[in-house]
Amino acid sequence: MRKPLRKAVLPVAGLGTRFLPATKATAKEMLPVVDKPLIQYAIEEARAAGIEQFCMVTGRGKTALVEHFDVAYELEATLRERDKTDALAALKGTQTEPGSIVTVRQQVPLGLGHAIWCARAFIGDDPFAILLPDDLVLSDTPCLRQLADAYMETGGNVVAVTEVPREHTNRYGILATGKDDGRLVEVKGLVEKPAPKDAPSNLSIIGRYVLMPEVIGHLAKMERGAGNEVQLTDGMAKLIGHQPFHGLRYEGRRFDCGDKIGYLEAQIAFALKRPELADAVRAFLKTYS
Ligand code: UTP
Repeated sequence: MRKPLRKAVLPVAGLGTRFLPATKATAKEMLPVVDKPLIQYAIEEARAAGIEQFCMVTGRGKTALVEHFDVAYELEATLRERDKTDALAALKGTQTEPGSIVTVRQQVPLGLGHAIWCARAFIGDDPFAILLPDDLVLSDTPCLRQLADAYMETGGNVVAVTEVPREHTNRYGILATGKDDGRLVEVKGLVEKPAPKDAPSNLSIIGRYVLMPEVIGHLAKMERGAGNEVQLTDGMAKLIGHQPFHGLRYEGRRFDCGDKIGYLEAQIAFALKRPELADAVRAFLKTYS
């Protein structure tokens, strides 16, 4: 019997330096794709995977992320008074079960591994998901749902993986692979941001994970890795050989919204999926070719 997956950690304490000045006074995860902030895509995806409890790892200047999922009494009352039913309906996805979102403060952004360790009391002894909201996945089945299903199949740790150009391995966590059936691949090793010549493969982890709570014990050692940060990849690598560990080639297209080009591409791809926008977007795109 697998322990059910009910918890998700959303690390949102990064500085977002690649998006300055936009991220000077607002969180990167509040940037919208079309009309919805990145954080809401992540929470909706997690809900669709059966997640009931959320922990945001936040830092200074990130209060809007929490406010976004609160009740906005004045706004809602005004919209009701003015019969703005469409606008009221647009707020639906921001409603959450009372008490289902907790926050912890990272205080100093010492790396993703450190951010996850900050959620240790929330995680306790349970398996948990991680969603990096700046990775957005457009897919028929939500990406975390695919991972949760794979976890029920294999048990242990499952991370979403995708092939990247070899010259980009120094941007990602990269797998050393074992048995591979084309969908699920056994993880034999993990390296954070290897130079292309040292990369054991070109299979990279994206920002969706299902992990076992034992990773926290390894992160607690606070060993610094690539970029002098406490790397989640290094903590996960310590689990290999002790617990099942698989990569899942998910169905879907990932957009790295922490990067300007990925973010711009996501705007177009998500707008083209919206029936009320698609034709107009296609028409204006033609004028730029
Ligand atoms: P990034 O590597 O994208 O870093 O973090 P960043 O600070 O957000 O952005 P840049 O590179 O300066 O532009 C990946 C994810 O991990 C979180 C970020 O919020 C993001 O969701 N993170 C990163 C933390 O929560 N704490 C950290 O110390 C580092």
